[in-house]
Amino acid sequence: MPAASSPVSPAARQQAHARYAAIRAHTLALAAPLSAEDQALQSMPDASPAKWHQAHTTWFFEALLLRPLAPGYRLFNEQFLYLFNSYYEALGPRHPRPQRGLLSRPGLDEVRAYRAHVDAAALDCIAHCDADSWARGSAILELGLQHEQQHQELLLTDILHAFSCNPLWPAYGQLPELPPAPALQWLSHPGGVVEIGHPGTGFSFDNEGPRHQALLQPFEIANRLVTCGEFADFIADGGYRRPELWLSDGWALARTQDWQAPAYWLADGRVFGLGGARAMDPAAPVLQLSFYEAAAYADWAGARLPSEFEWEAAATALPGLAQLYDCAWQWTRSAYHPYPGFRPLAGPAAEYNGKFMVGQLVLRGASLATPPGHARATYRNFFPPAARWQFSGLRLAREPQQGAPR
Ligand SMILES: [Fe+2]
Repeated sequence: MPAASSPVSPAARQQAHARYAAIRAHTLALAAPLSAEDQALQSMPDASPAKWHQAHTTWFFEALLLRPLAPGYRLFNEQFLYLFNSYYEALGPRHPRPQRGLLSRPGLDEVRAYRAHVDAAALDCIAHCDADSWARGSAILELGLQHEQQHQELLLTDILHAFSCNPLWPAYGQLPELPPAPALQWLSHPGGVVEIGHPGTGFSFDNEGPRHQALLQPFEIANRLVTCGEFADFIADGGYRRPELWLSDGWALARTQDWQAPAYWLADGRVFGLGGARAMDPAAPVLQLSFYEAAAYADWAGARLPSEFEWEAAATALPGLAQLYDCAWQWTRSAYHPYPGFRPLAGPAAEYNGKFMVGQLVLRGASLATPPGHARATYRNFFPPAARWQFSGLRLAREPQQGAPR
């Protein structure tokens, strides 16, 4: 017989209650500036409606926490198990992703009622579940909260894409101004054997471990991200017309889709963002780049993209790195592979990360749209190289420069 779990402290229950309530409320706050019509839009297969994000994050708690672990939990609507499953094969069939924008029903009010129903059950579980349920459920509760934070960023990137399809250039809202970029400096890392991956204290996703050693050659890395002004110089120098700067797949895609500038740069010189269309700020980090554009820029600049290991080693050991987590996810030259000894989580959560480890590139850092407290140095974001609708930019790296001024 397994040993009985130790009692749950009232402080642990209060902390979990506060964290759950705050993160769930933040999602509603992010959706608040949007009309019901805005929240139903799906502008492309990769982007989901804001309403769907709110329902799907709720489904996650219902399907992975409450259904298996809360005795007597009553489903809000059995059909929602089909509508709001994203990609979990183990949890049954699901509505096709490209057709999420066709779901005018359930309406926004019903989705909010769904959220309230699940919140009541989850908070009741946090307050009253027995020690064994707590022991089995607390990790999945935290995964659900981290999952909701990921969708908070997607809610913003996806509505921005939808608004970018509207010639009125709607503004989502006013955002805090980013601090000005510091002057460019190259920081030196000596290379050698470094420890990579999450050290194990506090939450991490399964793809951040196991922690292991990697061997780095000496390298240099830029203290800040590439700016819009620098990227404009690349464009003016024929960057989008010079195949020698591009990877073959990227060049073909850029021709097919007639790329001439980053995704949200407008023909009149303005740049579209969450604050609407504004004059391009040469000192602001360049955003909404595909991996292909980032790699072409780096080649033009006589540099390269860092590997994800170089990025993590620099972020954890080098003083003076700016714009790590508050501007843009930073493309790396690393394919999204499992770390040595990687094992997915047990149960349905096994499908969270591992099955996507092919055909994608790793991005490091975090962006202006990442919710507070969600980022860390070992975090591995990932997207296909053609993705342009995220808050993605680049930080340059290069080999040590012999005799060059630092
Ligand atoms: Fe999800």
